[in-house]
Amino acid sequence: MKARFVAPFGAPKDAGPDLEAFLAAVAEIFPVQESRRRYLKEDVLRLWKDLTSERSLRFADYLGKPSVLAAYVRYFMAWNVVRLVPVLASLPLDLPEGGTVLDIGSGPLTLPIALWIARPDLRDRGLRVLCTDRVRKPMESGAALLDALRLKTGGPVLGPGAWKVDLRHAVFPDTGGHVKADLVASANAFTEFFWSSTARRESNLGERASDLLSALAGACKAGGAILVAEPGEPRSGAMLSALREAALLSGLRVESPCPHSRACPMPGAFGGLGDRVDGKARSALLPVHSPKWRPKMPWCHFPVPLDTAPPALTRFSGEVGLPKDRLTVSWMALRKPSGGDRAPEAEQKGLLRTRLVSDPIRLPGGWDGRYACSDLGYTLVVGTAAREGAGSLLDLDRPARIDRDEKSGAVIAGP
Ligand SMILES: C[S@@+](CC[C@H](N)C(=O)[O-])C[C@H]1O[C@@H](n2cnc3c(N)ncnc32)[C@H](O)[C@@H]1O
Repeated sequence: MKARFVAPFGAPKDAGPDLEAFLAAVAEIFPVQESRRRYLKEDVLRLWKDLTSERSLRFADYLGKPSVLAAYVRYFMAWNVVRLVPVLASLPLDLPEGGTVLDIGSGPLTLPIALWIARPDLRDRGLRVLCTDRVRKPMESGAALLDALRLKTGGPVLGPGAWKVDLRHAVFPDTGGHVKADLVASANAFTEFFWSSTARRESNLGERASDLLSALAGACKAGGAILVAEPGEPRSGAMLSALREAALLSGLRVESPCPHSRACPMPGAFGGLGDRVDGKARSALLPVHSPKWRPKMPWCHFPVPLDTAPPALTRFSGEVGLPKDRLTVSWMALRKPSGGDRAPEAEQKGLLRTRLVSDPIRLPGGWDGRYACSDLGYTLVVGTAAREGAGSLLDLDRPARIDRDEKSGAVIAGP
């Protein structure tokens, strides 16, 4: 089987030094005396326990406390930047001169900082970076951090081509006033309230996804993009799959990571927005081959290459007792229609556009394999094409017949 490489998934070539520059900027904006370092490590550990516990004890404005913010920036934000850079670098995103980026739940401006590192070509586009959050202080510190990073990486910081950062104190779905952005984005924020016990009491997953979509689409220009990125956890996968289905049913286009617009074959716990059949929620989109049933159904998430992670961050994480040997991300990038949109090229040519998703697996007979997504559904790519990295987008020859892997139920593509 021939594989044509369409797009890689990974950080741009200068991301390593730029991530080092970001850590140097953190040290400048959040200096810690040697005698306080032990407390910083304790704060990171405490915040980790709190952020990962099912019944969180943290209050909604937790990042407003200086010690919590310092811990967040040094560990969680730093890894979030590493996680977001390959996603932003791989998106088909071309922002116009003077365009507006809206970042919802911006915290210390993690997403704009990751965009700066991921897309050097956008640095002198004079973008208006409009950040909103329910807490103001982290955004102010984040703006100082972005300035320091811009200075360290050669700017521009001032003048006509420089990004103009605008901070708005607002609780989503309020965005602090009228906005129509070229990119409406949010990272690691929506799971905070999407899965809260109040939200779950008041509406089901599909209703919450539809509400989220209309709030995001309302803030987006015709022809503009929407990006939601979250850690690659089961809940993120289900939320993003629900958001995707709501988007497709409303006429938006899915740009990434999905290589098709049929039902999602890796929706995790999300059943679908269609009619219920035998008491079960089903997708309202064209059906695809699904994985075999298992207690925890696959959700769409990608391992992030750790090769650009700054050694100092890896060291600090080990010292804190939270070493990072694996980082995952889930995301959904949508496009609001502007009229005249065409179907993607692979569908027109009849090729099988395929997104590699999982870590590599070793198959019986010594074959390389990776679980993937295509318009056939849950797909197992076998052979040399499976040696490309997770997140890569490939065009494969369409299999002449449908063979399914007995264990997983995936449709076999290749060798
Ligand atoms: C985990 S932090 C993520 C910050 C940043 N986007 C990142 O990726 O590191 C979640 C942020 O969302 C903000 N947030 C939570 N609920 C919000 C809401 N309803 N409206 C606006 N901001 C919200 C929090 O204050 C916090 O700054």
